[in-house]
Amino acid sequence: MAAVTRVPFPNPISIATHKCVHSISRPRLPELSAIFPLNAKKLRRFSVVAMADLSKSTVLVTGAGGRTGQIVYKKLRERSDQYAGRGLVRTQESKEKIGGSDDVYIGDIRTAESIAPVIQGIDALIILTSAVPKMKPGFDPSKGGRPEFYFEDGANPEEVDWIGQKNQIDAAKAAGVKQIVLVGSMGGTDLNNPLNSLGNGNILVWKRKAEQYLADSGIPYTIIRAGGLQDKEGGVRELLVGKDDELLKTETRTIARADVAEVCIQPLYGYHHPNPRF
Ligand SMILES: NC(=O)c1ccc[n+]([C@@H]2O[C@H](COP(=O)([O-])OP(=O)(O)OC[C@H]3O[C@@H](n4cnc5c(N)ncnc54)[C@H](OP(=O)(O)O)[C@@H]3O)[C@@H](O)[C@H]2O)c1
Repeated sequence: MAAVTRVPFPNPISIATHKCVHSISRPRLPELSAIFPLNAKKLRRFSVVAMADLSKSTVLVTGAGGRTGQIVYKKLRERSDQYAGRGLVRTQESKEKIGGSDDVYIGDIRTAESIAPVIQGIDALIILTSAVPKMKPGFDPSKGGRPEFYFEDGANPEEVDWIGQKNQIDAAKAAGVKQIVLVGSMGGTDLNNPLNSLGNGNILVWKRKAEQYLADSGIPYTIIRAGGLQDKEGGVRELLVGKDDELLKTETRTIARADVAEVCIQPLYGYHHPNPRF
């Protein structure tokens, strides 16, 4: 397993995984995909043990209107006995989409001043913001070929996945945030990965730059490099964890967004658990 984390990574995969985290000297990052079936028994066992000594902490998820972010936000609210969840979204429309509650703030991660207030007073930050490529109009699948993509002005990966994530990490450091979980992507070991050519955005390059910035920040962190995301039910398939894109050489390269959302929350248990085994 591959985890870059100075806090344990108590996911449902295995204890051996957990030990490996502490045996490496260079940061290694978890890359996730999933196969059938999930070992639900293990998941339950970990959750129950780890939950025993939690104190309520305030956790902010950014990109809370996004497809994975909104699942994390919902999970935090469902666990309101353990967490005071907050969300950061970019627009009023996104805020309404996830219920419009007072714990959802509107801000733009590209502007440091707009996110500082929501980061004040939080214990942990889950970063799920990302530049989103748009398909160029006019693509007709019936004619074959591949669609072309672009990024809107001011919303390319350098501005969102690098500057935007950096702004969040800086604000978190200034506010004394105790832990950051960042979702990245598989594929970053290969500059020629097709994702880098989407809209000429080099998205994986900028994501990696932000990951390194987080790793160098001094804040305890967990970086999750997800495989291809699917809008499927979570808790069904067994999670696979690899490193250095080794899972891309297998046939298992996808994961449900709901599973990624759960993996974002699981490291919070580790941080707050007084027993260093968790
Ligand atoms: N798609 C895949 O198969 C795949 C594979 C591996 C990893 N990943 C990564 O996994 C993560 C989650 O993916 P996802 O598909 O669930 O995310 P998503 O739905 O694309 O959500 C991204 C979120 O970022 C927000 N955002 C973008 N720019 C912002 C800004 N300037 N200020 C504030 N918020 C901003 C967006 O807000 P708006 O709603 O306002 O646009 C959106 O809610 C991303 O980092 C993604 O790159 C994706």
